[in-house]
Amino acid sequence: KNYSIALLPGDGIGVDVVREGKKVLDTVSALHGGFTLNYEEYDWSCEYYAKHGKMMPDDGLERLRNFDSIYLGAVGYPGVPDHVSLWGLLLPIRRQFEQYINLRPVKLLKGIQSPLAGKTPEDLDLIVIRENVEGEYSNIGGRMYEGTDMDMAIQNSVFTKKGVERVLRYAFDLSQAKGKKKHVTAATKSNGINHTMPFWDEYVHKINKEYPDVTSSIVHIDALAAFFVSKPETFDVVVASNLFGDILTDLGAAIVGGLGIAPSANINPEKRYPSMFEPVHGSAPDIAGKGIANPIAAIWCTSMMLEQLGEQDSAEAIMTAIEDVLQEKEILTPDLGGKSTTEEVGDYICKKLKNS
Ligand code: NAI
Ligand code: MG
Repeated sequence: KNYSIALLPGDGIGVDVVREGKKVLDTVSALHGGFTLNYEEYDWSCEYYAKHGKMMPDDGLERLRNFDSIYLGAVGYPGVPDHVSLWGLLLPIRRQFEQYINLRPVKLLKGIQSPLAGKTPEDLDLIVIRENVEGEYSNIGGRMYEGTDMDMAIQNSVFTKKGVERVLRYAFDLSQAKGKKKHVTAATKSNGINHTMPFWDEYVHKINKEYPDVTSSIVHIDALAAFFVSKPETFDVVVASNLFGDILTDLGAAIVGGLGIAPSANINPEKRYPSMFEPVHGSAPDIAGKGIANPIAAIWCTSMMLEQLGEQDSAEAIMTAIEDVLQEKEILTPDLGGKSTTEEVGDYICKKLKNS
């Protein structure tokens, strides 16, 4: 088999971590055989924006359409407003390619110490499914009366039957197929947000009826955030709207070792379009160019990519190599208390793969 992968390293540390992820992909495909990988690299980024006044060429999405997967580092850099970089590249990809599922595992890997006292890898093993194309990130609204005392901004949220049902079904399906607790937790805020969130809750009840062997609970996002810290072991599959899922997963990353190791996958479940794999973290301007970004989040993404492509053995081999390196604690970047560089960690994970 041959898979085509579009590389979008983007800005800042995105460039460094994607380089290491590609190395790991090459290593695992050479070792396990059975598949080869073809890459095409695109320099679409804030630097590209500075030269061309846009984040990608007009036919950018057209060029990406026929790849099997997209592998992205991060976009966003001082000098270009974050909403420009996000709406100029990342969000159009997620939307155009109907990547309506954003999978974000919150899983404590072996060798990582959680900041939550006494929590083990068994306690911290859940997955957040974030709705990825509608909800609070709607692009509907506007600024009015600027420069006057009535200056104001309005942003509408959009929740549709189609959008809500498909993300909830994905969550219940996942829980039914792989869940340890056969329980789905849905994030809400239907006390304060009184149109969209009661709508969301109603569909949670409705879709749950299609899955008699799975239970569900609906928890307010503020309380849910607190429970992620106080009793994370009670969760299994968590489903949330676009904004709530975004916030919850940075918190999720923090309880399992930080942004340096948190992966995410933007999935088009129907496989009509490519899915996109990217670390949760951004371009980290504070450490960009220093060669010390942790590549593990981006490397974990390559495992999620191979899993989605159907290369289960290679996907697992990458996770084993990552956990070996984390448990040894010899070669780690500074965010995990080590002194090694991005490249050293990437090389070491490749070495573990070769020796496995
Ligand atoms: P960030 O994730 O880039 O950085 C937050 C903190 O975590 C920083 O202190 C950074 O050094 C650290 N960090 C992040 N990744 C790390 C890694 N791999 N290894 C070690 N330390 C790491 O978030 P921030 O600072 O809010 O955003 C910076 C830029 O990135 C902004 O322009 C933002 O819009 C963009 N961004 C892009 C995303 C994407 O392309 N998907 C996601 C999040 C932010
Ligand atoms: Mg985020």
